[in-house]
Amino acid sequence: MARIVVVGSINMDLVTTVGRRPEPGETVSGESFALVPGGKGSNQAIAARRAGGSVGFIGAVGDDIFADELRGVLSDAGVEVSRLRRLSGASGVAAIIVDSGGENSIIVVGGANARMTALDVGDLEAIAQADVLLCQLEIPLPTVLRAARHARANDTVVILNPSPVRELPDELWAEIDIAVVNEGEAAQLGAVLDSVPHVITTLGADGAIYRGPDGITLPQPGVRVEVVDTTGAGDTFTGALAAHWHEGPEIALAWACTAGALATTKLGASVSIPTQREIERLLSR
Ligand code: RIB
Repeated sequence: MARIVVVGSINMDLVTTVGRRPEPGETVSGESFALVPGGKGSNQAIAARRAGGSVGFIGAVGDDIFADELRGVLSDAGVEVSRLRRLSGASGVAAIIVDSGGENSIIVVGGANARMTALDVGDLEAIAQADVLLCQLEIPLPTVLRAARHARANDTVVILNPSPVRELPDELWAEIDIAVVNEGEAAQLGAVLDSVPHVITTLGADGAIYRGPDGITLPQPGVRVEVVDTTGAGDTFTGALAAHWHEGPEIALAWACTAGALATTKLGASVSIPTQREIERLLSR
């Protein structure tokens, strides 16, 4: 079983469903509203755990009404939360609109995630002892860089999901073993991805493609499902990939594509992440 440490974000998602997303200046009637725990770091941690990994989470919640539920969703999933801090002020929140085609628009307000500015000795020890470090970009960049550097120095494999996408310093790319990007992120990041040994590009319903250090590419076809909501599908893909990376790219991609597809069949991020049994059932078809 792979030991994975996620250094990342955790948010309360405010999820509204609507027939079509409003144009600028327009008001439309929504169909439903729900509070669902999410955040790219938390979603990926839960996905890695449900796909069979042993997972610890390093991150922060606030001291508001959302904090206990956010911690609870991780610990209920079996993710180790002793390194999840409670910082004063608001937790991270994400306002999400999902349209009838399952596509979403998201606004994230960082809250406590934005105040995750330091890693302590215990965090660094946990990173050094892990097989895989998994990071995204919803916490401050210096924290991601510190985690990645420490992981690399201790032979922990570094996976970066550079989302929300932005330009990153070369010193961070130098620490990355595996990048997981969607097509938009790949286009925006461009040639800098050539410096990363392993790059996995997700292609939505068409699956994913892997490019290894030798330049060899490996396509993984998509899994056909009825899409309800794509929120968190990329996170579920990335978490499952991290949990199975030690079995080689071919097997890891099959798990990731299957888990990611299943995550689109329900509304909401954390609640749509499939269990190991659900993934295995679809994989064996
Ligand atoms: O990737 C989906 C996630 O992005 C949501 O859960 C939301 O919290 C935002 O971080």
